[in-house]
Amino acid sequence: MDDALRRIGIRRLPGIIRHIIVGKRIAAKPGIVIRLAFQAPASVESVTHGKVNMPEDIRNRPSINHTDVTALNFVRSSTPYVLRRHFRQGLRSHIMEILNPSDLEIERSGTMIDGIKWFPKAVPRRMFRIFRSRLKTLDNALTEIGRVKIVERYLAPDFIATSTECIVDYRGPEGWDLILCGFQEYVEGEIIDPWTILDAADLMPALYNTFRPAKKAIFPSKDEWVQAVRQNSARFICRIKKMITETGHIPDLAGAGNLIITGNGGVKLVDINNISRIAFDSTINLDEKGYPVCDKSVEALALIEKKILGRPVDMDEEIYKRFLNPDRRDAVKTKEALFWKMMASD
Ligand SMILES: Nc1ncnc2c1ncn2[C@@H]1O[C@H](COP(=O)(O)OP(=O)(O)OP(=O)(O)O)[C@@H](O)[C@H]1O
Ligand SMILES: [Mg+2]
Repeated sequence: MDDALRRIGIRRLPGIIRHIIVGKRIAAKPGIVIRLAFQAPASVESVTHGKVNMPEDIRNRPSINHTDVTALNFVRSSTPYVLRRHFRQGLRSHIMEILNPSDLEIERSGTMIDGIKWFPKAVPRRMFRIFRSRLKTLDNALTEIGRVKIVERYLAPDFIATSTECIVDYRGPEGWDLILCGFQEYVEGEIIDPWTILDAADLMPALYNTFRPAKKAIFPSKDEWVQAVRQNSARFICRIKKMITETGHIPDLAGAGNLIITGNGGVKLVDINNISRIAFDSTINLDEKGYPVCDKSVEALALIEKKILGRPVDMDEEIYKRFLNPDRRDAVKTKEALFWKMMASD
């Protein structure tokens, strides 16, 4: 299997996918896309007390574990890795850590370093994302991936956790269906929450303190670290604005956890599953959950600019003038309130 993937240009894909019957390269790097079709359906029925129980569709399950993933028809049941639910989750995907069993063993049993026993957390080799949304057609799936590729074009490799996206044939309780999943680079760090109540003066020192190890002479000073974060963030913001102007697309910057700041001052977008078209007119676009994601992402961009770069944003800039004017913001607030009301009643 790994050889087959290697032949179509994928080197670092963990030994997870079960086997390719039809391996068709749909698009070239970066953001390789493969369509995997599987012949052998997994058993999707379990028998309890003489009755046949249909398991719930994987996309509807609130959470999943290693056993659930390896029972999927498109996943090897004998994968050499351990899949563990990541401690942070969103609404649109299952986010699973791909772990080396030996790392997990050290996490559980500890390791002696300089006479002290440490229990280092196993670092994921990659993340396995299973997209929950229903894709009606192959074209829908390809459009979704096309959007990821747009974002990658502007942000890779420095500002995005790159992902190998796969469209797989899933054998679920209701029959065969397409699922989008991805093997994504793992980003270690702290999340940047654009909506934090901290302002620039408090946010940067707070972030610095979460990274600074108790004893490590070579860790940069606060000023050096803050400067690195600001330089990287300025480049990130610039790329996002360029993407908006040139392609009319924006990733979801509004969700807490979508952006991660790394120990060396890097900034990476990890949430690649909610990329939308931005309307340059008075329309307030809503995502499939009813959230005004474009407008809120522009607002988040302005907040990141203000709080990370530590300077007021230029409200005369075309993007901010258009999206952040008071009338539009009032209309967005109304839509957002509706969204939260709907979420609360779900
Ligand atoms: N590659 C990654 N490396 C590190 N953390 C990640 C990675 N992918 C996701 N995460 C974390 O997992 C959480 C959920 O991820 P994400 O926001 O992408 O979820 P989602 O369900 O696809 O989207 P949404 O938030 O729109 O519902 C986030 O807090 C994010 O920080
Ligand atoms: Mg998210």
